[in-house]
Amino acid sequence: MSGLKAKMVLDKQFQIAKVDERIYGSFIEHLGRAVYGGIYQPEHSEADEQGFRKDVIELVKELRVPIVRYPGGNMVSAYNWEDGVGPREDRPRRLELAWRTIETNEVGTNEFVDWAKKAGSDVMMAVNLGTRGIDAARNLIEYTNHPSGTYWSDLRRSHGYEAPHAIKTWCLGNEMDGPWQVGHKTAYEYGRLAQETAKAMKLVDPTIELVACGSSNTGMPTFPEYEATTLDIAYDHVDYISLHQYYGNRSNDTANYLAKNHDMDHFIKTVIATCDYIKAKKRSKKTINLSFDEWNVWYHSNDADQKIEPWSIAPPQLEDHYNFEDALLIGSLLITFLQHADRVKMAAMAQLVNVIAPIMTENNGRAWKQTIFYPYAHVSTYGRGISLKPILTVPKYDSKDFTDVPYVDAASVYNEEHEELTIFLVNKHLESSMPIEIDLRSFTNYQLVEHMQLVHNDLKAVNTKDHQAVSPTYNADSTLVDGVLTAQLAKTSWNVIRLRK
Ligand code: AHR
Repeated sequence: MSGLKAKMVLDKQFQIAKVDERIYGSFIEHLGRAVYGGIYQPEHSEADEQGFRKDVIELVKELRVPIVRYPGGNMVSAYNWEDGVGPREDRPRRLELAWRTIETNEVGTNEFVDWAKKAGSDVMMAVNLGTRGIDAARNLIEYTNHPSGTYWSDLRRSHGYEAPHAIKTWCLGNEMDGPWQVGHKTAYEYGRLAQETAKAMKLVDPTIELVACGSSNTGMPTFPEYEATTLDIAYDHVDYISLHQYYGNRSNDTANYLAKNHDMDHFIKTVIATCDYIKAKKRSKKTINLSFDEWNVWYHSNDADQKIEPWSIAPPQLEDHYNFEDALLIGSLLITFLQHADRVKMAAMAQLVNVIAPIMTENNGRAWKQTIFYPYAHVSTYGRGISLKPILTVPKYDSKDFTDVPYVDAASVYNEEHEELTIFLVNKHLESSMPIEIDLRSFTNYQLVEHMQLVHNDLKAVNTKDHQAVSPTYNADSTLVDGVLTAQLAKTSWNVIRLRK
């Protein structure tokens, strides 16, 4: 393995774009134990006066999540938002059709807005374009965003919320291209409905931003025509197009698995091309940006979910227990977002608590960090500033589905205000560490602050409530001499190298 070596050049002038911090968003759906037993459990010893778990809020704050998508997901496509507001004793129990559970509606719009404030996040609200449409959406935004003096705004005030919630970001339905979606629509049907709903919502509050649904994943037969048709109809009324994609290592081929950020990269490039084709066709000056509002690893829990009986309350659905190699892929996926900081302006790790999530809880017990918590927390904390394009020279490999995969993925963020530079790196080599030399030419008088890493001998190691097997350590061997940073990236490792003037 001698001869393996990486070189990189970083320069303040090689700017991709300012990172929109909303790419560090996440998602809470009324699904499994995300809400009930996750963020909310009034009988828990850590519950606050509203029943929210303070231990979970502390972990969410550690992730610095700027925005949280709510209330779904597939769930929103048959959801009546009115069921979740007003006195709790009057709220109906409903069959929740997407996940075939009972929804008690104990938590609804107002409670979630309160929770998000406590967690330091904004809300990205989705409207139901499955079973409902323009009318329910315009009523909901009048309820949440209109100050007073109308039926819906005064109803909100009567529910104890005098000031409007001022929700700025809205999703026009969820995965409407998917045949599993209640109220699934063709691209033409959806494009028309999205356009007319957008129009009505912006008449109520012209300051909002709207996300139109794109494809549920790249494997959909209608991808990317769904995006093209939708935007052809709704271009002038919407601001973002959504992308969703989940990854897994079902065939236990780690080299191939760790290359799957190349699939995400290709997805992003294809959607950018589609948006810009419609822009050209319309001779428009407006650019549609990307909201990657569902992304993660999701496959560990698939078999267990088959065994869950329908019509229970908050069953343990989609509870993936993440391992070390999952954390490495998450690092590479976050790097991919930073490499596209010019067009990916929002994203949501799906999801946040218990359901395919970085945070796990026991009902009436502890909360803990999954392996994927760490790369997410690192990039969310240190990845704020300008994304710089690293010029990287590194050996490559071929895997089952990908060719020319660099062994090292890299992104870097320069925070001008704090005079800080952070470099994020994944070494995907399964057997060998990778020496790297980074030419920091324009960063004169910068000092090395720390080199954090996530390493483990067992790619399948998981964290449990009792043992954080995978957690960051420090690599003390890295040096910075005459503007050249030298480091060893351990085999299969996630690395965060921080510098400050
Ligand atoms: O995040 C889990 C589910 O995945 C969401 O409800 C849906 O939008 C997607 O298919």
